[in-house]
Amino acid sequence: MSARQWTYLDHAATTPLDPRVLQAMLPYFNEDYGNPASVHSYGQRAEAAVEAARANLAAQLHCAPHELVFTSGGTESNNLALRGAALAARQQRGARHLLVSPVEHDAVAKTARALAEQFDFELEWLPVDGFGRVDPADVARRLRPETALVSVILGNNEIGSLNPLAEIGAICRERGIPLHSDAVQAAAHLPIDAASLQVDLLTISAHKFYGPKGIGALYVRQGAPLLPQQIGGSHEEGRRAGTLNVPLIVGMAKALELIQNEMEEQGQRLRSLRDELIQGVLNAIPDAQLTGHPRERLANHASFVFEDVDGNALLMLLDDAGFACSSGSACKTANPEPSQVLLALGLTPQWALGSLRVTLGKDSTPEQVQALLSALPALVARARQLELA
Ligand SMILES: Cc1ncc(COP(=O)(O)O)c(C=O)c1O
Repeated sequence: MSARQWTYLDHAATTPLDPRVLQAMLPYFNEDYGNPASVHSYGQRAEAAVEAARANLAAQLHCAPHELVFTSGGTESNNLALRGAALAARQQRGARHLLVSPVEHDAVAKTARALAEQFDFELEWLPVDGFGRVDPADVARRLRPETALVSVILGNNEIGSLNPLAEIGAICRERGIPLHSDAVQAAAHLPIDAASLQVDLLTISAHKFYGPKGIGALYVRQGAPLLPQQIGGSHEEGRRAGTLNVPLIVGMAKALELIQNEMEEQGQRLRSLRDELIQGVLNAIPDAQLTGHPRERLANHASFVFEDVDGNALLMLLDDAGFACSSGSACKTANPEPSQVLLALGLTPQWALGSLRVTLGKDSTPEQVQALLSALPALVARARQLELA
């Protein structure tokens, strides 16, 4: 990049690799490069590294090591969870009802739609409040004996809201219905205890917590029915075929260990920066709203809508001024349609099209927040003029 000063404020899209994670990974690219499935010593060393990483991850997530399946990331974990659990429930007990929150990442929402279209599942969207949160009582009311799976996101990627997952988990567990949660955004900001959340399936992805891209895991509770979706070798106890990516697995475990250990200190710092940013934007910019819950939200996450603004135009203006932000999920930035998540909150397209997501990280400073607060009012005004032109 050029000598110009850049400010990266898009940590929900991805995070920079922690140098300590890179160091942990390096030997498994060029020294211990064996295939963990091989019988010889190279294979044994690779297998030992994978199993140490698995045990470390399991300790962080409060589960047993064999309850983790390594995948290529959040998208694959969500696909495996929804397809694998829904199809197993149908095979074992004829269940064909899916209950899914309407504020999910596309990797859940589109997979649920595909299950309805291609496999004839009945897809029911849960209601959410104006902050995008699911009321556990609504889950209780809508659960049926023939519900195959419930899926509710833990920390929302677009609007930052946190769901009362443990309460939802208790209800699903009592009724014997499996619950999946996408914890891709939450893992960098909350302790994740799979046992006390009472989930059956839980998704994480390393690049959202300063680990490498292209690696994730799915927690699958011991005994939870799951049909494999990628068939081949008998890796991962038959739940996901494919040679294990040793350096990335080692990196993911190291990254989760570091972030979970540093979370308390980072969390306080990020929450206070986030709240300063939110108040600053709402005070300085007319016709602006916070999206998502004001307090029950991810520590690093500030998201807004501005009336009569083209969100993509605002992002370009911000980029010109040296700020890397986002308008929702990273995948949506080229899409001129209003986000389904923002529409589910009850926002009109006129508001929903003007969204801005600012997500802070370990390296974000009070000076960066102040610089954004100084620049943003004029950039929003400029985007509004472009809208009128
Ligand atoms: C909530 C959520 N789920 C899933 C994903 C997809 O994860 P990955 O990029 O690892 O495929 C993302 C990435 O933006 C996300 O924010």
